[in-house]
Amino acid sequence: MEHIDDVQNDAINAVDTKREEKPKKKLEARQQQEHEMNGTSETVDKSPEKTSSSVSIPGSSTDTLNKKPWDSVLDVTQCIKNLQLPTPPQFQFWKTQPVPSINERIQEGVNEPIESDKDQSEIRAEPYNLPSGFHWQTLDLQDKDMLQDLYVLLNENYVEDDDNMFRFDYSPEFLRWALMPPGWRQAWHVGVRVTKTGKLMGFISAVPATIRVYQKVQKMVEINFLCVHKKLRSKRLAPVLIKEITRRVNLVGIFQAVYTAGVLLPQPVSSCRYWHRNLNPKKLIEVKFSHLRHNMTMQRTLKLYKLPDQPLTPGYRRVTKKDLPRCKTLLEDYLKQFQLSPLFNEEEFNHWFLPKDDIVDSYLVERGGTITDFVSFYTLPSTVMHHPVHQSVRAAYSFYNVSTETPWTALMQDALISAKNTKFDVFNALDLMENKVFLEKLKFGQGDGNLQYYMYNWRCSPMPSEKVGLVLQ
Ligand SMILES: CC(C)(COP(=O)(O)OP(=O)(O)OC[C@H]1O[C@@H](n2cnc3c(N)ncnc32)[C@H](O)[C@@H]1OP(=O)(O)O)[C@@H](O)C(=O)NCCC(=O)NCCS
Repeated sequence: MEHIDDVQNDAINAVDTKREEKPKKKLEARQQQEHEMNGTSETVDKSPEKTSSSVSIPGSSTDTLNKKPWDSVLDVTQCIKNLQLPTPPQFQFWKTQPVPSINERIQEGVNEPIESDKDQSEIRAEPYNLPSGFHWQTLDLQDKDMLQDLYVLLNENYVEDDDNMFRFDYSPEFLRWALMPPGWRQAWHVGVRVTKTGKLMGFISAVPATIRVYQKVQKMVEINFLCVHKKLRSKRLAPVLIKEITRRVNLVGIFQAVYTAGVLLPQPVSSCRYWHRNLNPKKLIEVKFSHLRHNMTMQRTLKLYKLPDQPLTPGYRRVTKKDLPRCKTLLEDYLKQFQLSPLFNEEEFNHWFLPKDDIVDSYLVERGGTITDFVSFYTLPSTVMHHPVHQSVRAAYSFYNVSTETPWTALMQDALISAKNTKFDVFNALDLMENKVFLEKLKFGQGDGNLQYYMYNWRCSPMPSEKVGLVLQ
């Protein structure tokens, strides 16, 4: 059980609103070298993946399919050493939490909670203490002004690339979609405000999910949108937000969570990498998202990334409401082969996959009355922070895809064409599920940094990225 003292240890003692975040260490030259060694079809300099502020892992691009994720974790530790960072991470907060420690080796076959479920009487009834001058506020995202406050906090303070050139720009409507799926709870939209001014300075959220880990199906939450205002960084507010959301989730009898982060924490269940497919090379080069490869002219680059005007697969079309039950069955069957995947009920499936303009899009292939293939992607633009002409990069993120008849490259090429025709500049995909089959063939370039998958209060052996069948927004 948590004690007040623990919280006070983590709570902010003095709030110095003038101190800015320290610039992050530049790893561009090193990443560049890696890209060149990889021989990937494109060099992508940066993007505000949740991988930002993570350490680029030497050699991870040469991962073979049978390489254990443990190796990547060890690579990160090695990398931290190589970079001669002042001190290795101590995880003062995380070592107090029910998560496997960073160097714990978990036996294959272990797959269980770390702590058993608590009785309601053991769960702290009142919110954790915040430093004076701040208060908790549960955000009502149906309220336009509160949604706008959250939008502004994230738009100005959420994930950036290592060089602070791009920052995720989740739209208000996207936030509603991501944070209000079936079963959502207002209590799980947790804000911290300055009491005097009312300004929103911090946020964390949970949404319910049913997750299968290896053979076990567990009711969990997905934690997302952890954000602390830039002026309040490094003051231990994040641990207080994490404890408070944990308390609120525990109060309804849920004791497990899944989350992703670019940073290395104790202990990833898997480690994935983002890849980027250039759809609008001229713009991406202008904003320095990517750059002209050695010996390439703009003309040749445009030609390299050119796609057919329209999707080529017969029977490929946008998903409609009446297709949803059959698409659900297709995806459900497909996801069984992975070691970590969600289970959607009908309402959840419809929420996540019915196309909504500028939020999520899905397409299928129907042949002879049977739906054989399915693709989906969500919309997440990034703000271009300092550019005279371009304010935003429109990015599509691969969500869940199934190929049973159409070869992966043909199916995903059609997805790229659909994305291009709806004015996306880039199509991003993680190297999870079967994505490695098509990434290089379709001219995706490898991104920098890794996206780690974590579980709270769960111990299981780590899995390779291609065994991960779960995508969070
Ligand atoms: C992530 C963020 C909230 C952390 O806040 P902070 O002010 O930098 O850090 P704090 O001093 O409050 O807390 C530090 C603790 O939080 C942990 N932490 C940092 N980022 C974390 C993350 N993404 N998930 C979980 N824990 C995290 C640190 O490891 C540290 O704990 P430790 O002592 O056990 O190592 C803040 O940097 C931020 O808003 N960044 C931009 C948005 C972002 O990256 N969000 C996370 C998306 S996955």
